[in-house]
Amino acid sequence: MYGSEYAAVYDAVMKSRARDYAGMAHHISGLIDEALPQARTLLDVGAGTGIHARHWVDGFDVTMADASAEMLDYAHEQVPEASTAVFTAPAVPDTLGVFDAVVCLFMIPHLSDEDAEEFFRAISPHISSGGLLIIEPWYSADNHIDHYVGFDTLRTDEWAVARLSHSVRRDQVVEVTVHHAKAQPESGIAAHTETARLHLRPLEWYGQALERAGFTGSFVEPNEALELGLWVGTKP
Ligand SMILES: C[S@@+](CC[C@H](N)C(=O)[O-])C[C@H]1O[C@@H](n2cnc3c(N)ncnc32)[C@H](O)[C@@H]1O
Repeated sequence: MYGSEYAAVYDAVMKSRARDYAGMAHHISGLIDEALPQARTLLDVGAGTGIHARHWVDGFDVTMADASAEMLDYAHEQVPEASTAVFTAPAVPDTLGVFDAVVCLFMIPHLSDEDAEEFFRAISPHISSGGLLIIEPWYSADNHIDHYVGFDTLRTDEWAVARLSHSVRRDQVVEVTVHHAKAQPESGIAAHTETARLHLRPLEWYGQALERAGFTGSFVEPNEALELGLWVGTKP
């Protein structure tokens, strides 16, 4: 889903929504500073277009990681100060290095329960002692809206886009189909349709899985900046 034709559209559509990315990034910086005042290095896994990372580069040495090289290319254009690493969780390259904080925002829902747990274990050696694994949870079967239809339109100086999404629940997995049509003056209209599979799980699951992977888990309640709250795993 996250190919080159989608990166600029994802970035523009997400920024056009009411979500406070700067507020969320600043809240997370505050959590890291409070837990580990000497924290210097931050890895953003599933960084996408760098929509959060651009707010962290003033305070941390940031590495943006993603399974999609195309998303990372776009992210690197937006946030040239950050390093990049292409890998697909749950696999983690041995050469990744060690970070004071690892952040996964709207990324873990892409993984099955087994893969998410495997990822928590695989990333653990890459987190410094006392460092944090910060996870944004996603919906559970109780608060997810089935058959949801999303609709965005927007225009920049170079192109106009209409984006539609439809989600349907199959047991604990939500299949989200996204269609977007992008119109440009020279090349005309191009359309793409793709489906992502996102995993519903109870909120407590994240804390239990972090504990099983050797972290101490705590939950940060939702607030104005954090729509779904955050799970924070502290590495012993
Ligand atoms: C919904 S976007 C979230 C981007 C950004 N973190 C945000 O909150 O807006 C999910 C991102 O995770 C990446 N991703 C999905 N599965 C992944 C995996 N198994 N390993 C690494 N990245 C993955 C996708 O390529 C995409 O860029």
